[in-house]
Amino acid sequence: MTALPTAAHPSAEPGHASFDRMWAELAPVGRHPGTGGYRRFAWTTQDATLREWFAGEAARRGLDVVTDRVGNLWAWRGDPDVAVAAGTPGLVLGSHLDSVPDGGAFDGPLGVVSSFAALDQLDAAGFRSARPLGIACFGDEEGARFGIACAGSRLLTGAMTAERGLALTDADGTTMADAMRSAGRDPAGVGRDDETLRRIGTFLELHVEQGRALGDPGHPADGPVAVGSSIWPHGRWRFDLTGRADHAGTTRLEDRHDPMLIAAEVIQQARAAAQSHGCVATVGKLRVLPNGVNAIPSMVQTWLDARGADARAVRNTVSHLAGTVGRTAIEESWTDATDFDAPLVRRLSELLGGAPVLATGAGHDAGILATAGVRTGMLFVRNPTGISHSPEEHAETDDCHAGVDALVRVVHSLAGEDA
Ligand code: GLV
Ligand code: MN
Ligand code: MN
Repeated sequence: MTALPTAAHPSAEPGHASFDRMWAELAPVGRHPGTGGYRRFAWTTQDATLREWFAGEAARRGLDVVTDRVGNLWAWRGDPDVAVAAGTPGLVLGSHLDSVPDGGAFDGPLGVVSSFAALDQLDAAGFRSARPLGIACFGDEEGARFGIACAGSRLLTGAMTAERGLALTDADGTTMADAMRSAGRDPAGVGRDDETLRRIGTFLELHVEQGRALGDPGHPADGPVAVGSSIWPHGRWRFDLTGRADHAGTTRLEDRHDPMLIAAEVIQQARAAAQSHGCVATVGKLRVLPNGVNAIPSMVQTWLDARGADARAVRNTVSHLAGTVGRTAIEESWTDATDFDAPLVRRLSELLGGAPVLATGAGHDAGILATAGVRTGMLFVRNPTGISHSPEEHAETDDCHAGVDALVRVVHSLAGEDA
C-alpha cells in the first residue's frame, strides 16, 4: 500500500484520521502478493468482502444501506423517499471499489473512502444537511470480469439491458447471472431502477486523476484537486480472428492459417490508426485458443479500446483499422462524449477557490449517470505520475486529505440548496 499515513503527515482533522484508518483497512483486500496490484472483480469473494466493509462503515455512522435492483450499494442518512416527495432529493457522493486486473489502490476506493471521511468531518463540525446525504458504491465499474465497463450504472439507468448484462460471460464462461447467484443475489430483479434514480438530486464522484494534467511541473492546471468537465467518447471493440489449429513443429509456414499474425497486425495498426485520427487506441487483452506454446492458434480474440476528444475521430480510427486489417470490429460498448452539468462545474470550481477544470479520457459511473439526466459532477485528486490502472497508481496523503476537504466544502454548500 502507498504511503498513508506517515509521521510526517499527521491526521489533524477527524475526517483525515478516519480516511487513514479506512485506507489501511482496505489495503490488503484483493491485493495480489506477487504483483502488488489489486484483483477486485465483480461478484467474487473479494467483492463480497468489499461490500461487507462498505456496509460496516455505513453502520458505524448510522446510515441505512439499500441495495438497488442491480446490486449497487447506497448508504443513506435521512429518508431519501420522504425527501423525493418533498422535492428535495439527495446529494450522493461515492464511486466504486472494484479494480482492473492488477489495478492500483486509488481508482475507485479513493472516492468511496473520501466520501465516508467527508461525512465524519461534517459530523465533527456539527453540520446538519437540509437534504438526505447518500454514499454510493457502484458494482463492476471496470468491467474486468464481464467486459463491459460501468456495468452497475449502465444496468441501473437502462443504458445496458438486463438481458444483455446478465448474459455476459467471464473468461470461464460463467454468466453474470450465475455469478450473481453464486454471490447470493437473485438476478431476477436486475433492470433500470427508477426508484433509486429518483433519489439522486446530485451525484458527485471524487476520483484519482488518471493523467498528468495536475502533476506536470509548470502545468497551468496544477493543484491538489480539480473539477471534471467532460469525459471523452470511448468504446470497446473485439476482433474474432479465426484460423486453423495445427502443430507448431510439423506444419510448413506456407501451409499455416495462423490468426496470431493478424492479431499482431491489429495491434500495430491500432496505434497507427489512432495517431492518424488524433485519438488513442489500445489492445490490452487477447484470448488465444487453444493457447498452447506448440499449437498454431485456431482463434485469437483481440480487444480494442479506443478514445478521443471527438466521437467521429474515434469511430474513424476503428473503421480505418478494420479496413487496414480486412476484419470486422465487433462493437462491445460505446459511450458518447459526456459533459457534466456546466453550472455545477463552475460552482464546484468556485467553491474550491478556482480549482482547475479538466476533461478526462477515463470512463466513470458519473458519466453514465450524467447521460441519464442526473445532475452530476466530478472532482479529481492529483496523481503525480499520472499512472493509473497499474500498481504504480499513486496520490500523496496530503492530496487525498485535500480531496476530503474539498468534498466537505462542496457538501456544506450544496446540501442546503435546491439540488
Ligand atoms: C475505466 O476506468 C475506464 O476508463 O476504462
Ligand atoms: Mn478505472
Ligand atoms: Mn474508476
